[in-house]
Amino acid sequence: MAQVEIRNVSKSFGDVKVVDNVNIFIKEGEFLVLLGPSGCGKTTLLRMIAGLEDITSGEIWIGGKVVNNTSPKERNIAMVFQSYALYPHMSVFENIQFPLKNQRMNKEKIREKVEWAAGMFGIEKLLNRKPRQLSGGERQRVAIARAMVRSPNVFLLDEPLSNLDAKLRASAREELQQFQEKVGITTIYVTHDQIEAMGLGDHIAVMSKGKVHQIGTPKEVYNNPADTFVASFMGSPPMNLIEKDDSILGFRPENFVPIDMLNADEGIETLEFFVTWFEDLGSDSLVYGNVKFQSSSSQKHVVSRLQSRANIKIEKGKTYTFAIKRQDLRFFDVKTGYKKNAH
Ligand SMILES: Nc1ncnc2c1ncn2[C@@H]1O[C@H](COP(=O)(O)OP(=O)(O)OP(=O)(O)O)[C@@H](O)[C@H]1O
Ligand SMILES: [Mg+2]
Repeated sequence: MAQVEIRNVSKSFGDVKVVDNVNIFIKEGEFLVLLGPSGCGKTTLLRMIAGLEDITSGEIWIGGKVVNNTSPKERNIAMVFQSYALYPHMSVFENIQFPLKNQRMNKEKIREKVEWAAGMFGIEKLLNRKPRQLSGGERQRVAIARAMVRSPNVFLLDEPLSNLDAKLRASAREELQQFQEKVGITTIYVTHDQIEAMGLGDHIAVMSKGKVHQIGTPKEVYNNPADTFVASFMGSPPMNLIEKDDSILGFRPENFVPIDMLNADEGIETLEFFVTWFEDLGSDSLVYGNVKFQSSSSQKHVVSRLQSRANIKIEKGKTYTFAIKRQDLRFFDVKTGYKKNAH
C-alpha cells in the first residue's frame, strides 16, 4: 500500500497537450475516482501512473519515491482495463495464478493466494471453469482477482465495469467497494459515469480537456461545484444554469420545488414556472418548463425533480409558483465560469 502524488504532470502527443498540469494527492488506502468525459485524458493519466506511458513534464510519486523512470514492474501496480482479456484456454485458477508464476512462488503458497483472491470476489466455486463458461460479471470478477493476487501497492481500474449491464454494474460496484475497504489498498478508478463516481469514491477528481477542475468528496463536488463545467457534468439531469446579468445562477433540479413545499421564513426565491413536459420515473418525477425573470424578457428552460410520493398534481401547459431556498442557489462568473461567493 502506498500514497500516490501527481505533481504538475503534463502529457503531450506531438503538439497536443492531453494532460495539462495535473496535481492530485491520493492518501494511502484512499479510493479516488477520476471522472470526466470521453477524451479528457483519464486513461493517459492512469497509464502514466502505471508506467506504461512516458511523462512529458512533472513528477509522479508512489510511496514517497519519484517513479518517473521506474519500470511498470518495479512500481508494483495492478491495473484492470476496460477490455480485460482472460486467457481463454486457461481455467479460472490458471488465469488468477498467472501473475504469480513468474515469481517462483511454491505451489502451496500460490494455491493459498489464488483461493484468497477468489474468496474475496465470491468465485471460489468457479476455479475449474474456462472463461467461456462464465457470465460477463463473473469474468470481470476473475479479471479483478487476477490483478489483485500479487498484493500490489496501488490498484488502477480503467472503466472496468463498462461491459456489464446496469444491474450487474451496481452489484459489482458494491463488491469492489467492500473489497477495497477490506484490503485498504490505494485505488484510482477511472470512469465517465458520474453516478459510479458518486457511489464509489472517497474523493472525485473531475477532469475536462486534460485539466482537473475540482477535487473533493462526492458531496462537495455535487453540492458546491467549483465551476459551471462541474455543475453541468454532475447530476442527472444536471444543475440548472441560467445566465442573468453578470452571473450564472445555478440550482439543482431537486431544490426547485412548488412553493408550498418550502418554509418562506428560511429565505427563498420564487419563480413562475410554465410546465411544458412531465416525466414519471417511478420514485421521482421530472418536470420541464420555462421560467421568466423580470430583468430579462427571454424565457429560460429549467427542470425540477420531485419525489413522486410528494403527491403534487402538475399539469402540462399550466404555470405554477416554484421556489428555491437561497442557501441552495449557486453563482458562477459569466466570463470564467468559476464559482462566486453568494450575493
Ligand atoms: N498514443 C496517442 N497518440 C496521440 N493521441 C493520443 C494517444 N493516446 C491518446 N491520445 C489522445 O489523447 C486524448 C486523451 O485520451 P484518453 O484515452 O486519455 O482519454 P479518456 O479520458 O480515457 O477517454 P475515454 O473516456 O474515451 O476512454 C484524446 O484526445 C486521444 O485522442
Ligand atoms: Mg479511457
